[in-house]
Amino acid sequence: MNEQAGKTVLITGASSGIGKSFAQLLAAEGANLILVARREERLKEIASELATAYSISVEVIAKDLGQAGSAQALYDEVQRRGLSVDTLINNAGIGKQGDYLDESLESHHQVMQLNVISLNDLTYLFAQDMVAKGSGNILLVASIASFMPIPKFATYAATKAYVLTLGESLAAELKDKGVTVTTLCPGGTLTEFMENSGQQIDGLRNLAMMSSDQVAQEGLTALQKGKRVIVPGWLYKFSIAGLRLVPRRLQAVFGQMATD
Ligand SMILES: NC(=O)c1ccc[n+]([C@@H]2O[C@H](COP(=O)([O-])OP(=O)(O)OC[C@H]3O[C@@H](n4cnc5c(N)ncnc54)[C@H](OP(=O)(O)O)[C@@H]3O)[C@@H](O)[C@H]2O)c1
Repeated sequence: MNEQAGKTVLITGASSGIGKSFAQLLAAEGANLILVARREERLKEIASELATAYSISVEVIAKDLGQAGSAQALYDEVQRRGLSVDTLINNAGIGKQGDYLDESLESHHQVMQLNVISLNDLTYLFAQDMVAKGSGNILLVASIASFMPIPKFATYAATKAYVLTLGESLAAELKDKGVTVTTLCPGGTLTEFMENSGQQIDGLRNLAMMSSDQVAQEGLTALQKGKRVIVPGWLYKFSIAGLRLVPRRLQAVFGQMATD
């Protein structure tokens, strides 16, 4: 088991939803935290609450990871503060539902910059230090969208497929170097993501929603056990297992139904 007490954990997207839940759960375990997102005031409030409640050290770094070069700038800031990251949680992500051609290219690029480029670059930069130390844990937040094509959520699904493939590949590549890589693939989770991405939660979909605490807890348990991929919740575990049995064309139909 990889206990996180006393370790330093960097969490992107820690100002709300699943990232905030990671921060709360890890603080309760006694981990020291580096919280990253754009909304600095929110991060500072969370930091001050957690530092007081659990006597841990919590650093705040406000950063827009949707900008080119921001991962390197974040890594440099961590070095400047003299911090060493034991565990990296690459959680920040956005999505936008709608017709592919109705969105501007710039809007598609923003999703790719945050979900793929910044996630990739942070993984690359911090994994180098972890390999040099001979230890470290990386958790990548993907999605059940990683497993299927999703019409009207195409760029998001494509970015999340990238995250899952990167995570599984690196888990195998880095395992003999003391670094674990776990990819968390949540299904519907009640966070600001739902509204920001333009999804409706009504009727049956509401019943399928998980809380951000449940999702983050399953992610941490998987990380601590060194598991490579985790789909939180029995409903989503069974759905993904079943989905693998149908052709990709049909997966696209289910993918769109699940997000419409
Ligand atoms: N909710 C779901 O149903 C669901 C399902 C599957 C996967 N996921 C994934 O779970 C992860 C967390 O999402 P969530 O559901 O917790 O949504 P959320 O509550 O909207 O959280 C997203 C986090 O990302 C941060 N963020 C967004 N844009 C950013 C940027 N340009 N630079 C830095 N940080 C940025 C946000 O903080 P600021 O706005 O302060 O920057 C926020 O802390 C995402 O990768 C998402 O794709 C969510």
